[in-house]
Amino acid sequence: MAGNAVGLGNFLRFPAQAAQNGGGAFLIPYLISFLLMGIPLLWVEWAIGRHGGQYGHHSTPGMFDRLGPQRWLKYIGVFGLFTNFTIAAYYTYIESWTLAYVWHSLVGTFSTSDPQTFFPAYLGIHENSLFALPMEALFWFLLTLALNVWILSHGLAKGIEIAAKIGLPLLLIFGAVLAVRGLLLSPGDPGVVQDPMEGLNFVWEPQLAGLTNPTTWLAAAGQVFFTLSVGMGTVHCYAAYVRRNQDIALNASAAGWMNEFVEVILGSSLLIPIATAYLGLQAVQAATAGGSGFSMAFLTLPTLFNNWGAFAPIAGAMWFGLLFFAGITSSLAMGQPIVAFFEDEFGQSRTRASAVFFLSTLILGFVCVWLYPGGSFDEFDYWTGTFALVCFALAEVVLFAYIFGIDRGWEEITRGADMRVPHAFRFVIKYVTPAFILVVFVGSLIKPAGDWSAALLSLTSGAGWPLAPDSVIGKIWHVGVSDYRWFDSDGRGTTHLVQDITRLFLTVLFILCAWLVAAAWRRKAKETRS
Ligand code: PHE
Repeated sequence: MAGNAVGLGNFLRFPAQAAQNGGGAFLIPYLISFLLMGIPLLWVEWAIGRHGGQYGHHSTPGMFDRLGPQRWLKYIGVFGLFTNFTIAAYYTYIESWTLAYVWHSLVGTFSTSDPQTFFPAYLGIHENSLFALPMEALFWFLLTLALNVWILSHGLAKGIEIAAKIGLPLLLIFGAVLAVRGLLLSPGDPGVVQDPMEGLNFVWEPQLAGLTNPTTWLAAAGQVFFTLSVGMGTVHCYAAYVRRNQDIALNASAAGWMNEFVEVILGSSLLIPIATAYLGLQAVQAATAGGSGFSMAFLTLPTLFNNWGAFAPIAGAMWFGLLFFAGITSSLAMGQPIVAFFEDEFGQSRTRASAVFFLSTLILGFVCVWLYPGGSFDEFDYWTGTFALVCFALAEVVLFAYIFGIDRGWEEITRGADMRVPHAFRFVIKYVTPAFILVVFVGSLIKPAGDWSAALLSLTSGAGWPLAPDSVIGKIWHVGVSDYRWFDSDGRGTTHLVQDITRLFLTVLFILCAWLVAAAWRRKAKETRS
């Protein structure tokens, strides 16, 4: 479970989101979201998972089917298939970059060629082109995917658990070595312009200002979702292998807090301090625009490591190696629910189910690789890695508290518990967490351009609500796009074309997942009849 949660989100997305949202101003909304939303969701998901597992279901459609008598419940579980199919595709692609970068660090590529030009070339980005067919990137993607599937095909105990037992300690060691090396830099060392501690101060010094800014709250809640892997169906899946009377309450908290340690302590101590030392804090904030941390991780750091002389190749291999281990223990968690779905609900062997995962991720991943320059990747990340999580989490917490029922739910969470779960959380799960997620949901639908108070003023003065281009409604209606068209005057496709094709593709995929669920249940009904 810790391997599931600890991922690229901890080392790339967290520092970038924190830097984008005012550093210490981000921290308080983030921690409050963790306590009121993250921890309760973990308990709910572990409980739904362990409960479903008693009936032989290790993926969300079957688990939700068992929450109540309603026949539509299993279709809410479709989210838990859809998100894993799609997130696995683009996530495995990023993971494959890290593997490639381990190799290139070790053979010294970055001491001779400039990472600034290497990265776009690696991704196959050419000016004015919407498509890319980067052979090297495809090779590493295929290798990474094959490795994932090979591990998955060995099952939980002989595959995933072994990978986690190797990967997690190594990533902690690599992270600790790099953090110490980075934090010991001081002005006066060659190339150092600022004390790296300034970077830590920026993230860790709590500032109350963020509390009153809804945009900071949205970013903080989104990060809590992604980093804990809640709202995806992966936590449910692993929890389904826990026995009926075994503790889930303490284990869920332990995994959650472990993730927070790796995120807030270790995740803050690498990218930001090292980059602050060599570039200064302002440049760091500029480089994290967009909030993904990619350019910092893949363009900036390899360049900066060159300041470390003979240690540079090792430092690079450690940094990308730690990202790779963080990534693979997470992508395995996305694969397992898919494999389990085909095993449980279609009666396939593990090998065949793994092969299905291989093929689907290959196809979906190819779309991300191929249409990367046109923005397909970002569409995947937004709709499936950000928005779908909120929808699924909202649905599951409501179903858990009101259809399954909070009485049964509380019994399920606390049965066999190795800790006393504070009773207040019963109230939190029933009222606070659903309300919290609902606010996040509505907030992301209508997020305004600029300030919320200015937007309210504009609304009350009759000038209307200024929707942000990156709000859900804004994206659907292409707000802020002056000339929205699929083809330019030369008849060539535009990024809007790629975006809309990707959205259509994802919609079709969702319907396909729902159809799979329907087919599985029809098949089982027929079996029982005969
Ligand atoms: N929590 C992982 C991270 O921080 C991401 C993840 C998403 C893991 C979906 C599993 C499922 O990177």
